[in-house]
Amino acid sequence: MNLSDIRSQFPILDTEVHGHRLVYLDNAATTQKPQAVIDTLSDYYAHLNANIHRGAHHLAAVATDRYEAVRRQVQQFIGARSHEEIVFTRGTTESINLVASSFARRFFQGDDEVIVSGMEHHSNIVPWQLAGARLRPIPFSDVGVLDLDAYSRLFNEKTRLVAVTHVSNTLGTVNPVAEIVRMAHAHNVPVLVDGAQAISHLKVDVQALGCDFYCFSGHKMYAPMGVGVMFGRQEMLDELPPYQGGGEMIEEVTFERTTYNHLPFKFEAGTPSVGDVLGLGCAIDFMQQVGIDTIAAHEADLLHYATARIREIPGVRLFGTAPEKAAVLSFLVGEAHPYDVGTLIDQLGVAVRTGHHCTQPVMDRYDIPGTVRASFAVYNTRDEVDAFIAALERILPMLN
Ligand SMILES: Cc1ncc(COP(=O)(O)O)c(C=O)c1O
Repeated sequence: MNLSDIRSQFPILDTEVHGHRLVYLDNAATTQKPQAVIDTLSDYYAHLNANIHRGAHHLAAVATDRYEAVRRQVQQFIGARSHEEIVFTRGTTESINLVASSFARRFFQGDDEVIVSGMEHHSNIVPWQLAGARLRPIPFSDVGVLDLDAYSRLFNEKTRLVAVTHVSNTLGTVNPVAEIVRMAHAHNVPVLVDGAQAISHLKVDVQALGCDFYCFSGHKMYAPMGVGVMFGRQEMLDELPPYQGGGEMIEEVTFERTTYNHLPFKFEAGTPSVGDVLGLGCAIDFMQQVGIDTIAAHEADLLHYATARIREIPGVRLFGTAPEKAAVLSFLVGEAHPYDVGTLIDQLGVAVRTGHHCTQPVMDRYDIPGTVRASFAVYNTRDEVDAFIAALERILPMLN
């Protein structure tokens, strides 16, 4: 992998912040975009902008073809059986809300339970609460590994669904999703996987995982904001009612009755974010050109290097040290408030996230207000890890 070639594709990495070269370590919140993705967006609006599916004219036909080509590209990227199983949404949050809303209407009977993990992002907690479910969280150990024995004991006749994150955005844990699915299916319970933090770091194969739903956001995998994916197994999607009503999702409408379009359009009401979908296709090209295995190996190297280096700093506590872990480093320095750490190293050009990372139950589990989180992507370097550690060392005297 030619790291300087990769970095040169991301114009934002040349930005200066407070007189320092930006060291961007907030990739779990959103990744930066390569020039090709930025160009795809501007080319779309400069040369191709048209509403899709309905037009008889040239631009509408080309835009539709390109939009539908990305659907097939996503299908191959995640190993789905059919392009009809790929629904475009605004992001992971909308994908999960879609499933929660439709699934509840179809399958909830009152007194329904959804098993989640104890390390879910709020977007895989609140939609189930809104849908009326009682949540049964799977506990996890101090290092951040799910307790599968406890999980096996959570199933009962009220269990309607298991909804788990593939990779924890706070702890970095890569959860054993295939095993979680196998155990749920043994109880005839379907499984939704929140892939928001997995999709840019691991090879995802939804058929190998066996899951019924897999949700992710484009903006966390080098694509624009405003586009995401909800994969659903066809048999499952056929069973679910539409999520939103409007244009495109219908077959026939009268004032008495409406029939719905076939998959995947049944779940895509209204005008989609066409340019962003094309940008997603370009981001997949980028990831495949670099190679998912190459990305994973590089990020694993960064994680190991950063973990070893941060342990040199006195008073650092790491949260999430599971053996299977993605490139996320959550930590506290002594008694310092995470926000103070984040704002002080920002003055030195280092961008990290601080707070509860939309995982308040994880903070409660450790009885802490929040953490500082550094998260890595393909364009980060060991030099940037050194700059991050140097920034922490420099601010240490100001913290105590
Ligand atoms: C694990 C996880 N799930 C869901 C989300 C929500 O993603 P989005 O805000 O793109 O919908 C995030 C975002 O940080 C996340 O990390």
